[in-house]
Amino acid sequence: MTKIGFIGSGNIGSTVARLAVAAGHDVVLSNSRGPETLRDLVAELGPKARAATPAEAAAAGDVVVVTVPLAAYRDVPAEPLAGKVVIDTNNYYPERDGVFPELEDGSSTTGELLQKHLGEARVVKGFNNIWFEHLRSLARPSGSADRTALPIAGDDPAAKQTVTEFFDSIGYDVVDAGPLAENWRTQRDTPVYVHPYGTFGVLPGTPASARGVRDLVAAAKRAGA
Ligand SMILES: NC(=O)c1ccc[n+]([C@@H]2O[C@H](COP(=O)([O-])OP(=O)(O)OC[C@H]3O[C@@H](n4cnc5c(N)ncnc54)[C@H](OP(=O)(O)O)[C@@H]3O)[C@@H](O)[C@H]2O)c1
Repeated sequence: MTKIGFIGSGNIGSTVARLAVAAGHDVVLSNSRGPETLRDLVAELGPKARAATPAEAAAAGDVVVVTVPLAAYRDVPAEPLAGKVVIDTNNYYPERDGVFPELEDGSSTTGELLQKHLGEARVVKGFNNIWFEHLRSLARPSGSADRTALPIAGDDPAAKQTVTEFFDSIGYDVVDAGPLAENWRTQRDTPVYVHPYGTFGVLPGTPASARGVRDLVAAAKRAGA
């Protein structure tokens, strides 16, 4: 079992944390307002969970999930994440995050921005293309006929393998969507974004097989292309 750190403990962070604890992992949660504001979530999750500062959660995690609004990505502490596997869930919503010219013109991706900021960390994009409630409801044990797959993207094969094993432990198969430069294939308004897993706002969602997810990732067209 692994210790999972969280920079951000909102919709996605708390959902991944619940799945991780259910799978037997330890979790260290953090947010912008301080550990005391995570007391209720820690109490719900039980003895395998604790709250900390972002720097402490980064230092504690064997794997660290960065799940903040994209506008806050430069606040993520780089030094304690050096060499670590980092799962980046972030999406770009200019109306929320402000305009990022390098994303607008397609010269970078959200995953590449975080990788550049973190330097030595090994960033893997994941969890970004599914509504958090579907993420909670579609988790299934390994080998289930109705298991759902999620795409990941990253530049470090060993980090991708670690993330694949983590996803497997919490209930998901993985489809390799390529390097971080290709993570636009799973971003907002692409075929694999949210809809394959059901209608946004409607539970329980629809299982999506690895084959179907692979086809949707391959079908993505870059905006303006
Ligand atoms: N919602 C979804 O279904 C979904 C699905 C896939 C991907 N995503 C993406 O994943 C990211 C997180 O989404 P979310 O819905 O989980 O957001 P959210 O519910 O608003 O939670 C954001 C979390 O980030 C924390 N945070 C904000 N600024 C921070 C900073 N400077 N340092 C440390 N922590 C900070 C917040 O802490 P405070 O509350 O203390 O400020 C909160 O815990 C976004 O990029 C989003 O687009 C969301």
